[in-house]
Order: sequence, then structure tokens, then C-alpha cells
Amino acid sequence: MYEELLNKERKLAVIGLGYVGLPIALEFARKISVIGFDINADRVEMMKKRIDPSNELEPEAFDGCDIAFTANLDELREASFYIVAVPTPIDKSNTPDLKPVLSASRTVGQVLKPGDFVVYESTVYPGCTEEDCIPVLEELSGLKYMDDFKVGYSPERINPGDKEHTIRTIVKVSSGCDAESAEIIAKVYELVVDAGVHRASSIKVAEAAKIIENTQRDVNIALINELSIIFNRMGINTYEVLEAACTKWNFLNFKPGLVGGHCIGVDPYYLTHKAEKLGYHAQIITSGRFVNDSMGGYVAKQTVKKIIAKGQPIQGARALVMGATFKENVSDIRNSKVVDTVRELESFSVKVDVIDPHADADEVREEYGYEIVSEPKPRYDAVIVAVNHEEYMNLPESYFADLLTDKGVFVDLKGIYRGKIKGLEYWSL
Ligand SMILES: NC(=O)c1ccc[n+]([C@@H]2O[C@H](COP(=O)([O-])OP(=O)(O)OC[C@H]3O[C@@H](n4cnc5c(N)ncnc54)[C@H](O)[C@@H]3O)[C@@H](O)[C@H]2O)c1
Repeated sequence: MYEELLNKERKLAVIGLGYVGLPIALEFARKISVIGFDINADRVEMMKKRIDPSNELEPEAFDGCDIAFTANLDELREASFYIVAVPTPIDKSNTPDLKPVLSASRTVGQVLKPGDFVVYESTVYPGCTEEDCIPVLEELSGLKYMDDFKVGYSPERINPGDKEHTIRTIVKVSSGCDAESAEIIAKVYELVVDAGVHRASSIKVAEAAKIIENTQRDVNIALINELSIIFNRMGINTYEVLEAACTKWNFLNFKPGLVGGHCIGVDPYYLTHKAEKLGYHAQIITSGRFVNDSMGGYVAKQTVKKIIAKGQPIQGARALVMGATFKENVSDIRNSKVVDTVRELESFSVKVDVIDPHADADEVREEYGYEIVSEPKPRYDAVIVAVNHEEYMNLPESYFADLLTDKGVFVDLKGIYRGKIKGLEYWSL
């Protein structure tokens, strides 16, 4: 398989060309022949025109690539090595939604041939590849797992908006269903990963490794968020405490904040779901999720308290929220927790304007039902810097003073203006 991919006798296909799938497909396409498959025909048309629908890659990223983009199942038949990189979201009740990964498995199952390889990159709970996906591949293809086709799992570690940690520079974890396939899969990834490939001992180990990377971050951030709630009651600033504590060599450098996006705030639910199925109620992980999911509302309540403490009526008070995306310097608004702050403020009858230089106003309206305004309309009773976009990092105090009423409150969720605000009522997590 490896040699045949290298000399282009066989093709590699990537199923799902989003944040994860497109970059990996393009990297492979510099070395071997690639088919990029996505069910979204509009996105496929954009990629044919060298446009990354996820806004992460420049057109030059498509240069020199041997890749055919398609939404047509028949064209997928030409491939022999399939990489699945479709979303693995949660539903409204925080339960894993396997629909995309099972649907992609049905797609691959329909074109699978003896000798083919299928590698899953979507983040899943340990056991999902073998217990949920492989049966679908077998059913649709009529082929036998291990005898007729091989399967592996290799999680993705890229971080949206991060230009330093890329596919090439991040060590990749890979695995296969037996020693031979594990080695072939690792060698295929070594074609594009300069940092090297860690061979995990099994598919489940590789699945678990990915899920705990994000679970560990989530729980650690939750601890700092809880500390921030405690320190607020003590009247001390969390960032000042962290700055002091971080001078110890083994103190972990986590910051308080909203935990949004489609990885850190989502993946722990995959793990707790599987633990539950096995009869174990994960306590620490679910507590962390509770704390982190409560932070958007907490920030709003603190803001309301500050407005009231200033003697201002809360009914009809006006607040400006700066930043709507799930993190800084990206346009991705999916699973952004800023909406929790907006909704909580509105529940107190506060009128909220939201601005964001990166977010698409139509997407925000469709996803959350609120408007992004093009310009702030001063004056506000509170200004909340919710996302530390580059554009918001170095604004002078006078900028905020001009936005606020005399009794206005400045809320600096990420603590970026700590020490820089002298005359305004200031609060941060
Ligand atoms: N975004 C990240 O930074 C990141 C990092 C590490 C891991 N992951 C994981 O990688 C996986 C993919 O995430 P993403 O952020 O790239 O998702 P995404 O939403 O950006 O892209 C998914 C793509 O898959 C397509 N798609 C959906 N269902 C499909 C199907 N049945 N067949 C073919 N195409 C289909 C969509 O049209 C879309 O283009 C998820 O499991 C995610 O948890 C994401």
C-alpha cells in the first residue's frame, strides 16, 4: 500500500474537508495522489477555486497539489486509503452525535474494496471506531474487517488559528488494527508529519489519548474558573494570583475563561458518555463541565451586579459585548459561549449590542438568533471584552471611557487590560 501510494498507483481519499480534513488532504497532495470528498457541494466548489471555506488557509496552500475535490461517491471508488475527518458534535443534551461519522462510514463502506485501509481522525470515545464504525463498513461493503480491509485511528491535534503548531510540526499519534497495518499507517503519516509519528499500541489507546488531551485541559480550566469565583468573593484578582503562583516551576499555567469551540468543551462528553455506558459516573470531568458551562452566565450576573451597585436601573440598561467567536482571532462561532453571556444579560432586561471583527453576522444570526452590530452605539452601562482578538488587545482607556456612561462598568473577561485601566470601574474573571 505505502509504495503504491508513493508511486501514485493508488490514491488516498479524505472524507470531510473542514478545519482538519482540508489541511491534511493538501499536505498529502504534495506527495501523493489525493481525492478530497465532502458532502457539501458548495464547499467542494469553493475548494476547486482554491478557497478554504473554513478561512484558515490561503490560496497558495493549494499550490502544487495533486488533488481532485468532489462530492460524487463514484469518484471516491478510485481511492484505496481513506481518512475520515468529519465532525463529531454533541446534541442539545450533550450526548455524542455520531450521525456524521456513521454517515461517512456508510459512504466509505459503499466504495470499499479488498485490501483497502480506513483511518478515522474524528475525535471519538475509546471503542467508537471498532464498536460503532467498523460494523457499518462491514455491512455496507460486505467485506470482513481484518481479513479484507484494515482500519486505524489517528487523532488530529491542530488548533484553529494557530500558525505555529501545524500538521507538519505536531507529533502525530497513529494506530492500526494489527502490527502490519499500524506500521503502514504510521509510514503514510510520516510522509507529511515532520515532527514524527507516535505508534500507539491499539486503536482504543489512540482514541483515548486524544480524548484525554482535551479533557485534561477542560478540567484544568474549570479549576481555575472555580478559583476565580472564589477569589472574586475574596476581592482579589485571579490573574494576579496566577502570576504569583506561576513563579513555581511546576504550577500549571491555565487561565480562567469561557470554554467554547468544538473540541475542549465537547470531547469530555464523549468520554463521560462511554464511562456511563460502562457503569461509571465520571465525577471530576462532569463537575469541570458544569463549572465551565456556567461561566458565560456567571460573567453576565457579575456585570448586572456591578451595574446595580453603581445605582443604575437594570431594566433597559445597555451593554456592549466585544467578541462573539469561540476564541481569539478566528471567525469560528460554533459552540461559542459568548451567547450565554448575551442571553443571561437579556434575561435581566439588559439591551445588548455585540460587535466582532471576525464573526460573520449571518452565521451568528442563524446559529444564535442575535445580531452583530457594525459599530458600537454609545453610551453603555457596561462594556464586556469577551474575546481577546488582536484588534482588542491595545485599545486606550479613553476608547472604553467614550463607550461608557459616567457610571459605566468595564468587564475584561480575559484580564487583558489588567493594570492599564485607571479611571473606570474595572472587573475581570
Ligand atoms: N477543528 C479542530 O481544530 C479540530 C482539532 C482536532 C480534532 N478535531 C476533530 O476533527 C473532526 C473534524 O472536525 P472539523 O473541525 O474539521 O469539522 P468541520 O465542521 O470543520 O468540517 C467537517 C467537514 O466534513 C463535512 N462532512 C460532514 N459530514 C460528512 C459526511 N458524512 N461525509 C463527508 N463529509 C462530511 C462537512 O461538510 C465539513 O466540510 C472532529 O471530530 C473534531 O472533533 C478538530
